[in-house]
Amino acid sequence: MDLSINVNGIKFPNPFLLGSGPPGTNARVLAKAYDAGWGGAVAKTVSLESSKVVNVVPRYGKLRSRENNEVIGFQNIELISDRPIEVWLEEFKQVKKEYPNHVLIASIMEEYSKERWRELTKVVQDTGVDAFELNFSCPHGMTERKMGSEMGEHPDLTEEVTSWVKEVSKIPVWAKMTPNITNIKEPSLAAVRGGADGISAINTILSVIGVNLETLRPMPTVEGYTVPGGYSAQAVKPIALRMVSQLGLGLPKEVSISGIGGIEQSRDAIEFMLLGASTVQICTGVMLQGVKMVDELQDGLAKFMTDKGFSSVQEIVGKSLPYFSTHMDLVKMMKEAKRHKAGEAARDNEWAQKDITEKTAELTSN
Ligand SMILES: Cc1cc2nc3c(=O)[nH]c(=O)nc-3n(C[C@H](O)[C@H](O)[C@H](O)COP(=O)(O)O)c2cc1C
Repeated sequence: MDLSINVNGIKFPNPFLLGSGPPGTNARVLAKAYDAGWGGAVAKTVSLESSKVVNVVPRYGKLRSRENNEVIGFQNIELISDRPIEVWLEEFKQVKKEYPNHVLIASIMEEYSKERWRELTKVVQDTGVDAFELNFSCPHGMTERKMGSEMGEHPDLTEEVTSWVKEVSKIPVWAKMTPNITNIKEPSLAAVRGGADGISAINTILSVIGVNLETLRPMPTVEGYTVPGGYSAQAVKPIALRMVSQLGLGLPKEVSISGIGGIEQSRDAIEFMLLGASTVQICTGVMLQGVKMVDELQDGLAKFMTDKGFSSVQEIVGKSLPYFSTHMDLVKMMKEAKRHKAGEAARDNEWAQKDITEKTAELTSN
């Protein structure tokens, strides 16, 4: 079945993309993902000066189900890519040369400097990538340099930086939002005012995954200490779905949405699409299940389309959005439904109590 979809003028072979993070850490893993069947990928976030990016170990923590040990939540304190930009530029070129029909999106992040954002945009664009995703949303580490979610939490900065990129970009630009704000529509609409063609949501939710009761140290523990990190995996899906639905209902129609957060199976992906996402991204799911998980994503989507009579992926996008309402409306509709049911019951009673000949006479006009 044809699972392709056109978004911002780009043809995606299917709507399934690797989310920015370890699954898109270099050209080799990107190639493997395309070979496995992924329609596209957002590579790990790059910046101009990788020497400033120093990661720690350990940097992940898991929340497990009390019943069966399944991983339901995942926390990371990982930074953006620590690989030199020159290496990345070569690899972007190489990947696009080898996989011209698969979509490669470069995730970029810089300090609050017009010069730096313009330079990064230009050098990455020259490699032939298909689109940009602006990382306004990494919630830890980078914020100390006023990068990442420091920008996504301030709509004025979101708008300004997006407009810097748009001034030099000839390809579509998506802005990736942090969920660590009150109303996702505010920074998203700011990015749209800055010229963003699409919004990606969500990045990770600020979290502390737990405290070791033996050592009394919060986790993940590095030399006895920690910092709050970013929460992902299935536990965040309801929050991500709510935010995507707000965007689906609140963004101008021409702005695309890439849904992210806790997608592990085709049904999760379809839910995001029904609420307005035209592509979906998966990061932790791939870290836990491997790139082969795309088989189930594709099969599940195709089966859903056949079962429900959808003839294109585009038709699914936003299909469930009309079913959001206000609480006041829900109450009104419920009361009406009750009244209607009561009316039906009263009618049934009447039929049961009266003789059929009596009822026939009553309903006859002559
Ligand atoms: C270990 C790890 C590293 C990540 N690195 C990045 C990154 O470099 N850039 C970025 O935009 N998002 C990054 N993310 C966030 C993911 O792309 C995604 O937005 C988030 O994890 C929610 O989706 P998921 O539940 O499918 O993982 C990272 C997530 C994880 C778990």
